[in-house]
Amino acid sequence: MSLPKACIFDLDGVIVDTVPAHYVAWKAMADELNIPFTEEDNEHLKGLSRTESMLKILELGNVTKSENEIADYTTRKNNIYVEIISKMTPQDILPGVLDFIQQLKDNGIATAIGSSSKNTPTILKAVGLDTTFDAIVDGNQVTHSKPDPEVFLKGAAKLGIKPEECVVLEDAISGVEAAKRGGMKCVGVGDPSVLGAADVIVPDLTKMNLGILRNL
Ligand code: BG6
Ligand code: MG
Repeated sequence: MSLPKACIFDLDGVIVDTVPAHYVAWKAMADELNIPFTEEDNEHLKGLSRTESMLKILELGNVTKSENEIADYTTRKNNIYVEIISKMTPQDILPGVLDFIQQLKDNGIATAIGSSSKNTPTILKAVGLDTTFDAIVDGNQVTHSKPDPEVFLKGAAKLGIKPEECVVLEDAISGVEAAKRGGMKCVGVGDPSVLGAADVIVPDLTKMNLGILRNL
């Protein structure tokens, strides 16, 4: 295909390396509940909303909690997480991100963020990317989180570009599924054994370029 008209980026794990911070914070909650929780388990939480992630952890341990208790765990998890991300600086932008965004801008390709995270505005501000993207859709603006395509479809609509002219960049299994369900091409960022459903997979954005976009 020719070059797409837009690239929609997932945030956590694609633009910034917040995956370990999410893991540490969820692990603290899982430990309290005596639920074994590994980094592999965490892989399946990526892209899910905060509440859905908590429900998955409870499911892992076959534990039931009331709605109020679930709200309390997710609030405390977020407090731990925010404490970590509040120390982020532009140094925490992942390798290759700034160069690739510049290539897109130089070629008139629109850029957007499509993230499940309600902390998106805080993170973008902390790393100095709050005015970089043409559109931002985050967890505060969607009803259904990934693998539902809502976040990406809203991103395309905000840009005024058809879904089939957008490419999504994702590190989560749920995010790749969301992109495909939204009728978009998807670049998986990370491990091919995890992101097999993506159209193409790169280990990180240092390996990303316009040639890959053109060949999708
Ligand atoms: C996604 C992350 O981007 O955002 C998930 O991959 C996270 O791990 C989700 O649970 C929601 O994030 P937040 O910041 O609103 O708790
Ligand atoms: Mg992600």
